[in-house]
Amino acid sequence: MKLLKKISLGIVIIFITLQFFSPTKNIAAGNHTEAFIDQTNPTPELKRLFESSCYDCHSNHTDYPWYNNIAPISFWLADHVKEGKEHLNFSDWANYSLDKKDNLLKEIEEEVVNGNMPLSQYTIFHNGTAISANEVNKLVEWVRQTRIIYQLGKQPN
Ligand code: HEC
Repeated sequence: MKLLKKISLGIVIIFITLQFFSPTKNIAAGNHTEAFIDQTNPTPELKRLFESSCYDCHSNHTDYPWYNNIAPISFWLADHVKEGKEHLNFSDWANYSLDKKDNLLKEIEEEVVNGNMPLSQYTIFHNGTAISANEVNKLVEWVRQTRIIYQLGKQPN
């Protein structure tokens, strides 16, 4: 019993100490996805969809939930954002090559059609961020049209 008490106290102390540490937040000022929107011209509906279901992990700005103030959850979220941005950062669109953009669009379609994105851990906690079948169809159509533009751009004049 004594040992159990010591262990519990140890855990409480570790938890409290952790609260003094927090990862750097992913916050951008202004219109950080302007280049992406200008170049790919999504419908207002799709634009809203990217904002609500993707940008938190795939852009330079995350709208944090209240529980991000609690460690170690904050570290876990920061890790997701870091990893998400490494694969795809909508705020960095202007810096991607044509090939990379074309390939990312293909992957966006694949991930959404297969139901891998947005991550289910995310949609469970964020109401209204899951993507409906109707939205998936619209996204697929937009990907097809946008890829044609990028593929034409790739061809020599
Ligand atoms: C909760 C965070 C989160 C959200 C929300 C999210 N993603 Fe991701 N995404 C990730 C992470 C982490 C990875 C990298 C690891 C993986 O593939 O699971 C990733 C990877 C990807 C990839 C690259 C896959 C590859 O094979 O390289 C694409 C494309 C993608 N996401 C698209 C989207 C789109 C589109 C949305 C919105 C509809 C979205 N994601 C929403 C976290 C997220």
